Amino acid sequence: MAIPSDIINEIKYRYDIETAISAYVNLKRRGKNLVGLCPFHNEKTPSFTVYPENGSFYCFGCGVGGDVFTFTGLIENLDYIESVKLLAEKTGITLPQDGYDDSMQKLKSRIYDINKETARFFHNYIMSAEGKWALDYLLGRGLSLKTIKHFGLGASPDSWDALIKHLKEKGFSISEMMSANVIGKSQRGTYYDRFRHRVMFPIINIRGNVIGFSGRAMPGEDKAGGKYVNTADTPVYKKSENLFAMNFAKNNCAERIVLVEGNMDVIALHQAGITNAVAALGTSFTAEQVNLISRYTKEIVLMMDADSAGQKAVRRAFEMLKNSGLSVKVVSVPDGKDPDEYIKKNGVERFKYLLEGAVSDMDYKLLTAATDIDTASEAGRVEYLSSAAQIIAECGDVITRDVYIGKICEKYGVSRTAITAKVEELRKATARRERRKEINDILSPKITKDDINPERRSAPRAAKAEEGVIAVLLQHPDYFEKIKDELPPDKMITSLNRRIYTIIYDILSGGDNLDVSVFGQKLLPAELGFVVALQNGERAQTNAFAVLKDCIKVILEEGMIKAGASQGEASVEDWAKDLQSLIDKKQKGN
Ligand code: UTP
Ligand code: MN
Repeated sequence: MAIPSDIINEIKYRYDIETAISAYVNLKRRGKNLVGLCPFHNEKTPSFTVYPENGSFYCFGCGVGGDVFTFTGLIENLDYIESVKLLAEKTGITLPQDGYDDSMQKLKSRIYDINKETARFFHNYIMSAEGKWALDYLLGRGLSLKTIKHFGLGASPDSWDALIKHLKEKGFSISEMMSANVIGKSQRGTYYDRFRHRVMFPIINIRGNVIGFSGRAMPGEDKAGGKYVNTADTPVYKKSENLFAMNFAKNNCAERIVLVEGNMDVIALHQAGITNAVAALGTSFTAEQVNLISRYTKEIVLMMDADSAGQKAVRRAFEMLKNSGLSVKVVSVPDGKDPDEYIKKNGVERFKYLLEGAVSDMDYKLLTAATDIDTASEAGRVEYLSSAAQIIAECGDVITRDVYIGKICEKYGVSRTAITAKVEELRKATARRERRKEINDILSPKITKDDINPERRSAPRAAKAEEGVIAVLLQHPDYFEKIKDELPPDKMITSLNRRIYTIIYDILSGGDNLDVSVFGQKLLPAELGFVVALQNGERAQTNAFAVLKDCIKVILEEGMIKAGASQGEASVEDWAKDLQSLIDKKQKGN
């Protein structure tokens, strides 16, 4: 059962898509639609389109699309029903208590409960006599009892089933524990605690729910299972969308946020009063994490190791942060230390001083470009200056470019005219390249219909005709009555289009209105994007009905051809026999 469409429509009326999306995306009007940079993938030229007319959006770059609920769901990591609930709440509309399928919702709520109970179990354990080994370890690393409690740190006993037993007693089922990923299943079919003899860090989302765990091995025990064991993705946790300690940092990061590498670094910083620090949970920095951060802050300071892995991480983060609108700064911790060790050795004041010395991304790039180049020699200087010009050329702001040109000219004693000319030349070349790329992008969209409907490759004629039927009906639902007997859903050939057409068929047969939201509850975001693309695609003009009839004819024809072909096909048994005789021959030959 679905949420009644009048309620969906009422929410959409009160919470229009343009306003909703504008809160996250800078939209510019283009004709009757709006365009902006897609918040779901990294892009330079806007391919994210909002259609206020029918309350839908579609990204031509990555293929996501849908209505205001799909958008909210993708941005806030909620499923469709949850987004409806959230927007209902925001607009003051009461939803009926039952009448729709909320099994996923119920499972999520059970997983939240399991996680909370598990965090409590680990925390009580570290505070007990048996857990003293773990408490001693954390205290030994300089954490205070207050910090341990603040972060809800804990430890897992050295046992295969202590947690299973505990959660069973609390009324949770094995399958719920598996869904929460706190237990695993062996090849023999037995279940076991995933975290054993580890210091446990609960991961808490911005709404304050425990969504997962990071478990650190004791020193010397790293080899069994790795230094950290982390919760895999579950219905409530996607590590690429979360940041460790964001639940605390969000209250104190309006100006800037500090990104460090390790959980222990974050904890040490918070203990020292630097409460705007977060860590990326063992992933390389992702677009979703950038998204989360940019909703709370203006500036990000990347604090990475000075080693080559750290530098690589910084470069990747630059890429991800390019279109975020955030100011980006970098600071590396000297002597190959991590922030945690640095604070312990040099104190908070020195650390804060280090943080204040964070340089802009441009300074950082110009600085690291000089590594391995002997700028004392003539040749080295030339080499350095041309890569510096390239770096400056990549900056979009003319004043910033001018400032940095001034800086390097002064430092290396070269003329401003020369460097400025070089920078402008490079910019022109890049602009030409980008224009060419943009044209290519438009000519060949990245997500093709074949990606979304794989059967389209083997049945292109049928699939195109099916798309025609769907598009015309979305644009002219009044034609449905005239063709419905001719084209019952089972005549559709490819399964995705059959599914979409079945939804259309049921809705229109029931006399209801066709609206993107009808599909939202039944299709995946990419599939929904496909429908939105069809709906907003080229309008079939005056001859739309003729197009519809032609398409139906093609589908029926293709159906006959397919039926004929499959009669002629060898049966599975025949095929198996052939295969067996081939194998026999081969074995005889050996
Ligand atoms: P580090 O090895 O720097 O760990 O990994 P750390 O947090 O500083 O821990 P200490 O100081 O040695 O105790 C940085 C981060 O990378 C992820 C974790 O999130 C860790 O905090 N990581 C590391 C993993 O997910 N798995 C691993 O095996 C190692
Ligand atoms: Mn560390």
